[in-house]
Amino acid sequence: MVAYRDIVAFVRDRVTEAVYAHCTATAETAADLANHHGIDSRRARDAALLHDVARSLDDAALIKEAERFGIAPSLIERQAPVLLHARVGAKMVEQELGVTDSETVAAIVAHTTGARHMHVMARLVFVADYAEPTRNLPGADEVRALLPERLDEALLSVVRRKIAHVMQSGGVVAPASIELWNELAQTLSGTAGQTS
Ligand SMILES: [Fe+2]
Ligand SMILES: [Fe+2]
Repeated sequence: MVAYRDIVAFVRDRVTEAVYAHCTATAETAADLANHHGIDSRRARDAALLHDVARSLDDAALIKEAERFGIAPSLIERQAPVLLHARVGAKMVEQELGVTDSETVAAIVAHTTGARHMHVMARLVFVADYAEPTRNLPGADEVRALLPERLDEALLSVVRRKIAHVMQSGGVVAPASIELWNELAQTLSGTAGQTS
């Protein structure tokens, strides 16, 4: 297990002050959620602290880093290289910091678009990223109102807002987001298969 001080130093050295502040706030929110749901709060805190370690790289650097790690950008990632910060960050954490915990790595990979079958740690990092108190994203108050208890409803609310935002700006929605939406919609509201 990588020491907390090494994780802090790893993130601090690689992100802007604003991103670092967001990472620490996400870590606190994720740790609180983990405590509430009986999950190891130190692992949740560490994963959340690390989630945006590649967020301060510009598009060109992200593409270069992706290449270095053998990541083939998807069509959507080529159009919006910022999305690569999730997969590139996960590789940095694995290969440069030496984190071997697969759930930590998976949480970092899934934090931007979401994914099917997200483990509870990935779910709470995804929600904490949106709901942490220093970032006032659209609808964040409604998401916060569902927490800490209703984690999956909060997750559904976040992925719905993210998909709506991409659609409203005329962008391409990542298939992973749609897959997460469908999974949650089936589980939470039983609306699967409705076409009208
Ligand atoms: Fe991010
Ligand atoms: Fe973030």
